[in-house]
Amino acid sequence: MVELYAGKGASRYKICITNDALPKNQLNKCIDRKAKVLIVTDSGVPKTYIKNLKQAIRNSSVHIHEIKNGEKAKSFKNYQQILKKLIDLKFSRTDLIVAFGGGVVGDIAGFSASTFLRGIDYIQIPTTLLSQVDSSVGGKTAINVPQGKNLVGAFYNPKLVLISTAYLKTLSEKEYKSGLGEVIKYAFIDNKKLRILIEKNSQKIIQRDNKILKDIIVESIKTKSKIVTKDEKESGIRAILNFGHTFGHAIEAKTGYKKLSHGAAITLGMVIASKISFFEGHIKDYQLENIINLIASIGLDTDYSSYKYSELKKYIMNDKKIADGKLNLVMIDENYKAFKTEKFNLNNVKKAFKV
Ligand SMILES: NC(=O)c1ccc[n+]([C@@H]2O[C@H](COP(=O)([O-])OP(=O)(O)OC[C@H]3O[C@@H](n4cnc5c(N)ncnc54)[C@H](O)[C@@H]3O)[C@@H](O)[C@H]2O)c1
Repeated sequence: MVELYAGKGASRYKICITNDALPKNQLNKCIDRKAKVLIVTDSGVPKTYIKNLKQAIRNSSVHIHEIKNGEKAKSFKNYQQILKKLIDLKFSRTDLIVAFGGGVVGDIAGFSASTFLRGIDYIQIPTTLLSQVDSSVGGKTAINVPQGKNLVGAFYNPKLVLISTAYLKTLSEKEYKSGLGEVIKYAFIDNKKLRILIEKNSQKIIQRDNKILKDIIVESIKTKSKIVTKDEKESGIRAILNFGHTFGHAIEAKTGYKKLSHGAAITLGMVIASKISFFEGHIKDYQLENIINLIASIGLDTDYSSYKYSELKKYIMNDKKIADGKLNLVMIDENYKAFKTEKFNLNNVKKAFKV
């Protein structure tokens, strides 16, 4: 088992990553014996996992709250229902929530924990690859409202994150690839070791080899935790975690969040951002080729030819990354490191969609 840390001072937390079963001792060490526990999960998480988790917690008062699976469940209504459950069960400040599922569950359970009684503890046990490498670390919690995704939320760190690669065996191919899209992102954010790991083990990654999964998750989290600890509230360097997101979000919005998974859209966004980086002179042609080949080597789609700049423009310009009316892009340099800039020629953005 590998132990990493994120967060500062009193809100610093441990992240345990294992290719074995969930480490029960770590879990119970972190939960006061007398505390009530609410496991928040969703209908897509295999029932045996939920049963085993409930049995693993030695406390006498362990409850389960299941929401429907899917992005729509990250709603105000479900948030209210979680709060109602906590009130009905007479939860106090010393009681605790366990978020057990993908990013949807982690975000809504974390947000509930951040606001109930002005904040109670929560533990993240992420069960999708995306939530293991991304959403469970960094303390961002949120729900969606009709006006937009993640518009209501809080920065609120968990008490502990427990990651077991064993959960990934049952993940659908689409969800697995979505997580791989985020893994690839870290390979281009200051993590050469991860890039080489992927280069050398692409087949094992496709086959979900347990050992290599643990290694790529550890490397991804090292990068994410380093960045989010430096910039907890996203006021600076954390922006490079958005490599591929400006175009990825535009593709997701254009396709109504239905056609592609989040990671698949972000992957296409990274290819587009890399192509613009090439036109801007930040990388050489062979480096662009290396990036695209690495992404394709683990079975991810790199072909964005069905998307037109004219169709995506309004979503690109709506992006959260626009500061003072200026579009900031995250590009990549000759060391395969992402960086944020507002200096680029818009014609190169348009050109990336023509070639
Ligand atoms: N807080 C953050 O920093 C952050 C970062 C990235 C994404 N997110 C959020 O994360 C969400 C996406 O998360 P996601 O990709 O994990 O999707 P998800 O939570 O919707 O999970 C995907 C599907 O996999 C199922 N599932 C979960 N674990 C499983 C398992 N072990 N085996 C089989 N099926 C399983 C779920 O039931 C669901 O149907 C979005 O709402 C996004 O906004 C948050």
